[in-house]
Amino acid sequence: MKIDLWDPQSFAHGHPHAQYAWLRANDPVHFQEEPNGPGFWAITRYQDVYDVDRGFQAFSSEPTIMIQDAPDQATNFGGYKMMLMMDPPQHTAYRRLIREEFTVPVTAGRIPRMKQLARQIVDEVIERGECDFVSQVAGEMPSYVIAELLGIPLEDGRELYKWTEAIHTTAGGSPTEEGMVAVFKMFEYGRKVIEEKRARPKDDLATKLLHVEVDGKKLDDMEFLLFFLLLIDAGGDTTRNLLSSGMIAMLENPDQLNWLKADLSGRLNSAREELLRWCSPVIYMRRRARRDVEVGGKKLREGDKAVMYFGSANRDPQKFADADKLDLSRTPNEHIAFGSGPHVCLGQHIARIEIDAMLVEVLTRMKNFELAGEPKWLPSNFISGPQVMPVRFTPAKRMAEA
Ligand code: HEM
Repeated sequence: MKIDLWDPQSFAHGHPHAQYAWLRANDPVHFQEEPNGPGFWAITRYQDVYDVDRGFQAFSSEPTIMIQDAPDQATNFGGYKMMLMMDPPQHTAYRRLIREEFTVPVTAGRIPRMKQLARQIVDEVIERGECDFVSQVAGEMPSYVIAELLGIPLEDGRELYKWTEAIHTTAGGSPTEEGMVAVFKMFEYGRKVIEEKRARPKDDLATKLLHVEVDGKKLDDMEFLLFFLLLIDAGGDTTRNLLSSGMIAMLENPDQLNWLKADLSGRLNSAREELLRWCSPVIYMRRRARRDVEVGGKKLREGDKAVMYFGSANRDPQKFADADKLDLSRTPNEHIAFGSGPHVCLGQHIARIEIDAMLVEVLTRMKNFELAGEPKWLPSNFISGPQVMPVRFTPAKRMAEA
């Protein structure tokens, strides 16, 4: 079995599950060579991934959570960092600034609006009978939701979201020129948001971020811009990819799709969690060993890179019975698609609401839903999901017509 978890081509048709299975069974903490870098430890078993993710005392998120130490111009913003790349206690202080907005009760208040957005998105394409599911359906929701959260026009959310994709697409694992241009465009846009929200404060997250304080000091422009970039980046193609690859998974398992449709509202909860386990839109997060430390029987040295493969952990037979079976009724389902520990996905409750609202619209209104061509997968070893997914469907008759 050829093992290469570095090469983006290994992910060109989705997660390399055969490689993951071999590694879990034979070399669960595997040393992976890396071009232009020292190499890294690929961690593939659930328990090890879980322990490393929670073990921030031994595993740091600094300087970056990407495998490659970034070239200066790409992610070194004059010594500033995103919260995702900070360790406690600094990380705790920054996360505290926005966490209120993402709690279960606050996000629950957004459910009616998200349902309305989901209806509008499907309205746009339903009569055409075909579309690109990724850009015209699944991608619309997260870009609108993040725009609403930040208090910027929905249309602008779409544009920002396109830049996210450029940022996540790498060439041979390194950021592309297009990706770096996209970061600067995001910042340019973010600066306009700063001006606007300072001049006309509103009840939105962008305004709040400009007024909160860390250690008695307001965020400066760069700190704000990095929050802005993180929120757009983290909430965009993750949710989109879950919806797109989740639909593919259900088309490949029609018994499961039919089971779900037979009682959509009653079964949505377990189905959504199983799709998260199955699809794992975030492929990995990287940590750096702060000291010599043992993981799964291997000795890591201080400074070594430890890379947690969430898609592999989520198929670990030691954790999940029939791990390679899509079982939309699976309960309990302690998947790790949102990570774990101090950095556990802050947007997970919002993501769940977005996913539910979209699945309900798609599954009830798009009848005879099928692929109209081969999906083209995102060439990335970081984020998993189709980039293009042509689909056909027939509009469901309205109640009055039925
Ligand atoms: C299906 C959708 C999503 C998936 C699979 C996902 C997954 C993840 C993962 C794996 C992490 C890192 C966790 C770790 O290191 O342990 C993360 C962090 C994060 N996510 Fe998500 N995410 C999703 C949607 C969202 C949404 C919709 C938002 C915002 C609206 C969001 C905001 C964030 C933020 C801000 C962080 C950084 C948290 C921190 O550093 O403390 N995510 N997400």
